[in-house]
Amino acid sequence: MRVRHFLLDTDLTPSEQAAILDTADHLKATRRSGAGAPGPFAGRSVALLFEKPSTRTRLSFDVAVTELGGHPVVLDAATTQLGRGETVEDTAAVFSRYVDAIVMRTFAQDRLERLAASASVPVVNALSDHAHPCQALADLQTIREFKGGLAGLTLAYLGDGNNVAHSLVLAGALAGMRVRVASPPGYEPFEQVLRQAGEICAATGGDVVVTHDALEAAAGADVLYTDVWASMGQDTETDSRSLVFQPYRLDEKAVEAADPEAIVMHCLPAHRDLEIAGSVLDGPRSVVFDQAENRLHAQKALLSFLLEHADAARQPPARTPADKAVR
Ligand code: CP
Ligand code: NVA
Repeated sequence: MRVRHFLLDTDLTPSEQAAILDTADHLKATRRSGAGAPGPFAGRSVALLFEKPSTRTRLSFDVAVTELGGHPVVLDAATTQLGRGETVEDTAAVFSRYVDAIVMRTFAQDRLERLAASASVPVVNALSDHAHPCQALADLQTIREFKGGLAGLTLAYLGDGNNVAHSLVLAGALAGMRVRVASPPGYEPFEQVLRQAGEICAATGGDVVVTHDALEAAAGADVLYTDVWASMGQDTETDSRSLVFQPYRLDEKAVEAADPEAIVMHCLPAHRDLEIAGSVLDGPRSVVFDQAENRLHAQKALLSFLLEHADAARQPPARTPADKAVR
């Protein structure tokens, strides 16, 4: 058995993803009942390493580890030797001697993969340029809460085919959802992600389609979702992108086209009246702060899952009758 990482949504099987969402619901209910944290992380430390800014991810992982009974160590990568050019491989080897898991927000997905390859503890993607799988777990938990399930529901994502879109496509496919992405030409999700999602959908009954027509994507949808038009690291493109993306704003027209009971989602941080109308973000269909809350519960469930697997991987293999004979 190997240590498991969570670098991409597809690092979980459909049933593992569903089990983590069940655990997240249970942890949420336990927390609300005031029963206190179960504390499986007593004596454990988790490093939270950030190469990009963060509010929700940083805070929710910090609180998650603390409430599980562990010790979070939050690090701004620029103030570590990583910022002076120490390799991710050496960083992974050193961190693995101190902590029980590493949560990292970075640029290229390759940095996470290299970190995981040199770490002997689980590594979690806390957002890369390619994917934001922890966000998608919390999003699925939120959709289940408001819609009572996932399989067969239609999620329409309007905007940039970015990290958040990639994770929604993959996690939605794992859950058997119908994911529609409406992006301007040239800003669609990566082909490789769409291919991977297509293969998953063949097994789960899900469906992923890409269009350039926002209202076509929104028509009858159960969930409307958007994200910023210029992600972290793309700040110089903000002006050019805001012209190209105008027709993809999540506005009242998109809400009218969707199912009357549709919920509106945004991973936050948001720009009111840019990618989403302020009236929609703050309107009655919006569940954006439930989404933000669920980061905490979903990440607790994920960390518990990964630590359980890491503990099992560390157990010596059971003795066989032949071993006993030798002894
Ligand atoms: N949604 C999300 O990841 O927010 P932060 O960038 O604030 O962590
Ligand atoms: N796509 C956004 C998500 C922020 C949570 C970014 O990468 O900046």
